[in-house]
Amino acid sequence: MLSKVISAVYFLLCVTSFVFTSAQDPYLTKALQLMSETPLIDGHNDLPWQLRKLNNNQLNQVDLNTINSTHTSIPKIKEGRLGAQFWSAYVPCTTQYKDAVRQTIEQIDVVHRMCQKYPETFMFATSSQDIMEAFRLNKTASLIGVEGGHSIDSSLGTLRMMYQLGVRYLTLTHSCNTPWADNWRVDTGTDPSEHDGLSPFGKQVVLEMNRLGMLVDLAHVTEKVMNQALDISKAPVIFSHSSAYSVCPHKRNVPDDILRRVNQTRGIVMVNFYNDYVTCSPFANLSNVADHFDHIKTVGGAGILGFGGDYDGVTRVPVGLEDVSKVPHLVAELLRRGWTDEEVKAALGENLLRVLREVEEVRDSLNATSPDDVPIPYDEVQNSCRTNYGYPDPPESGGAVHVFSTAALLLTLTLQGLITSA
Ligand SMILES: *[C@@H]1O[C@H](CO)[C@@H](O)[C@H](O)[C@H]1NC(C)=O
Ligand SMILES: *[C@@H]1O[C@H](CO)[C@@H](O)[C@H](O)[C@H]1NC(C)=O
Ligand SMILES: *[C@@H]1O[C@H](CO)[C@@H](O)[C@H](O)[C@H]1NC(C)=O
Ligand SMILES: *[C@@H]1O[C@H](CO)[C@@H](O)[C@H](O)[C@H]1NC(C)=O
Ligand SMILES: [Zn+2]
Repeated sequence: MLSKVISAVYFLLCVTSFVFTSAQDPYLTKALQLMSETPLIDGHNDLPWQLRKLNNNQLNQVDLNTINSTHTSIPKIKEGRLGAQFWSAYVPCTTQYKDAVRQTIEQIDVVHRMCQKYPETFMFATSSQDIMEAFRLNKTASLIGVEGGHSIDSSLGTLRMMYQLGVRYLTLTHSCNTPWADNWRVDTGTDPSEHDGLSPFGKQVVLEMNRLGMLVDLAHVTEKVMNQALDISKAPVIFSHSSAYSVCPHKRNVPDDILRRVNQTRGIVMVNFYNDYVTCSPFANLSNVADHFDHIKTVGGAGILGFGGDYDGVTRVPVGLEDVSKVPHLVAELLRRGWTDEEVKAALGENLLRVLREVEEVRDSLNATSPDDVPIPYDEVQNSCRTNYGYPDPPESGGAVHVFSTAALLLTLTLQGLITSA
C-alpha cells in the first residue's frame, strides 16, 4: 500500500515536472520533437584536431564519455541530439609541402577509431542512406570532411584514395593558397592572388570530385573561387561552416549574390557559430546566430540552410551555444521567431540530405567516365620536398646537361691536342 502511494506520488511529480518544463519553454519541447523526426546534420566539428592537440591521437587515453575540456563529448552529443556529423580531418596550412598527407590520413584514422571504440554512439557513414540508417539506430552518423586542398598535395590519386577512406567533402582551401586555388585571405588583401581563383588543375579537382561523389566545400575560398566552382560544378555545392556576409562583413562569410546562386544551384550554407563570424566581434549570443539563419532564409530560402557549428575548431562561441549540447535551444529560437516546422526540418537535415543525394546521383550518372589521370604540371608544384618521378626531365636542365657534356668533350679534345702536341 505504502509503495503504491509512493509510486503515485512519484508519478504525479514526474507529470508535474514534465508539464512544468513544457510550460516553461514550449518551443524547446517542439524543437526536441522535430529533432526526433529529422536528424540534425552538422557540417563541421574539429574534435579530431582536439584529439591530436590533447595527446597526439592516443584515443586509448581519452574517454569521450567524461572529457570536458572540449565542446564535444558523448553526453553533450546526446543532449544536443546530434544526428549526423561531418568530422573534420583538418591539418594546418603549415603542413603544406611537408607532411600534410600523412597527418590528414592520421586524422581520418582517428575518426575511424572513434567509431570503433564507441559503437553505441557513433556509426561510420559515407552516404545519405547511412545517415538515415544511423538515425533509425539512435546513433550519430559519422562522416568525414577534409578541410583544405593542401591535404591532397595537388594529387588526384590522393583525392581518390581519400574518397575510398570515407572522405565525403573537401574544402578547396583552408586559410592558405594551394598550387591550384586562392583562399579567402586573398579577398582581405592579406595573401596575394596566385591563380585568379581556380587554376586549370583546380577545375580538374572540382570535376573529379563530381565524378567521385564528393561534396565540393566552398568555406574558406575567395569569392572568385565560389563563382567559378558554382559555374563548373555538375552537382550542388556546400559551405560546411560559413555565415552571412550581410550580417557580419567578414570575408569567411557568404555574400548575398552567392546566396542567390546557391539557391539557384540547390546548394547549402551551413551556419558557423564562431563569434568573430557571427558579430565580427569577440562577443556573440544565440540570438545573433539566429539572425544569420533569418537573413539567409530571406535571401536564399530555408531550402539552402544548415548547421555548421565549427565546435572545437574555434576559441569563442556564443552565449547560449557554449557547446554541442545547446543546439536544440537555437532550434527553439527559430520556432519562436515564427519558422514553420517544414522550414526547421529543412535546415536541420533535409537540405543536406537533398544535396548529398544529388551529389550521389551525379556520381552515378558519370560512372562511365574515366578517372582524370592528367597530373598537375610540374612547374606548378615545384618545391624542395617534391621529386619529379614520372615527369619528363625539365627541358632547361636537360639542355644544360647537354651543353655541359659538349663543353667537356671539347675540353677533352683540346687537352688531348695539347698533350699530343707536347
Ligand atoms: C573536468 O574533468 C577533470 C578531469 O577529468 C575534472 O578534474 C574536473 O573536475 C572536470 N570539470 C568539470 C567542470 O566537470
Ligand atoms: C536514444 O538515445 C536517447 C539518448 O541517449 C535515449 O534517451 C533514448 O531512449 C534512445 N532511444 C532509443 C529508441 O534507443
Ligand atoms: C544578444 O546580443 C544582442 C547584441 O548583439 C543584444 O541586443 C541582445 O539583447 C542579446 N540577446 C540576449 C538574449 O542576450
Ligand atoms: C530558391 O528560391 C525560390 C524562390 O524563393 C524557392 O521557391 C526555391 O525553393 C528556392 N530553392 C531552394 C533550393 O531552396
Ligand atoms: Zn574552418
